[in-house]
Amino acid sequence: MDTRPLELARQMSNEIISWRRDFHMYPELAYEERRTSSIVAQKLKEWGYDVKLGSGEVGVIATMKGSGHNVLAIRADMDALPIEEVEGREYRSRVSGKMHACGHDAHTAMLLGAAKIISLLREDLISTVRLIFQPAEEGGNGALKMIEEGALDDPKVDSIYGIHVWSDLPSGKIGLREGPILAATGDITIKVRGRGGHGAHPDQTIDPIVASSAIVLSLQSIVSRNIDPFDSAVVTIGSIQGGSAFNVIPETVLMKGTYRTMRKETRELVKARIKEIAEKVASAYGASAEVTLKDVTPPTINNPEAVEIARKVAIALFGENNIALPKPSMGGEDFSYYLERVPGAFILLGTGNPQKGTNVPHHSPAFDVDEDVLYMGSALLSSLAMNFHLLWRRE
Ligand code: NI
Repeated sequence: MDTRPLELARQMSNEIISWRRDFHMYPELAYEERRTSSIVAQKLKEWGYDVKLGSGEVGVIATMKGSGHNVLAIRADMDALPIEEVEGREYRSRVSGKMHACGHDAHTAMLLGAAKIISLLREDLISTVRLIFQPAEEGGNGALKMIEEGALDDPKVDSIYGIHVWSDLPSGKIGLREGPILAATGDITIKVRGRGGHGAHPDQTIDPIVASSAIVLSLQSIVSRNIDPFDSAVVTIGSIQGGSAFNVIPETVLMKGTYRTMRKETRELVKARIKEIAEKVASAYGASAEVTLKDVTPPTINNPEAVEIARKVAIALFGENNIALPKPSMGGEDFSYYLERVPGAFILLGTGNPQKGTNVPHHSPAFDVDEDVLYMGSALLSSLAMNFHLLWRRE
């Protein structure tokens, strides 16, 4: 196996960190990633890639031809979050109210590192490499846009990999898991309609607040009474809005929430129960419920063969002791859309280091990554590319 990428990645560590800090200082929200995309596209062109900017110039699809006929895709996401970063870091976000609080800055920098390594070793590149730098992972399903724009075609991609930095995993551990690793997600909207009136005369009203309270409590029975105890699901109501005065019973209450499952079948069951419970509980109180359920991402399901390939490469680079089996998470990822179309794996790179304060949760204003392990991501991704033809058994 070609392990030259590891040495090259080590040498490039500072460069990868400086790219990451630049992206970190100038975060862009979903579908606004023009600055990031243009930096990425310019570097890839310099390194000899065939580069296509996505529509709206917020995504990049790049190709480096190999001498063989396998095609490997690698994806990074580029978007930031509407969060105000904590004070005190020299590379703190320069854009108020926006922050790379999920590590997508690191993903972009690591994939650039891998891209540079692949271009340095291109004489020996057998598999064709497709790089996908996508916008809008955070709720915008940027993956679907990239797929529509041909990210997996011409030439047809055999397999796809992506890495997510993971603060829950110790720094430098490579997290590999077969099967479901992240959840299917969806949005819940429930509008409960009653009949408003005076707070002193509830008997003359139909109180949507009482009906909504009963609905929230009854929804808790889906996970506890309907789901196989060895399966997983979450039903969360995160927002309730209704009424504006202490002595007025309102006409309506609007509730919003999310459902999460590790399997598509379970998702259908959860959705059916949410609808049934909300409607029937509302009607038991004389009210009515209008339920809207919208799937957002499918579950992220890693192909066992693709995970095995990543494991072989990761062990060759970092040794068996640095491989970890991460817990699945009820978080969602639009990487799942690529995995619905081609086999592949979503790999976690541990960046949690209590000494450096990088073990705080993703999407927190204090989120940060342990930059000293980012070279590992670049090494792993570029090694996958350089060795894919040896490991991928489908011709
Ligand atoms: Ni993320």
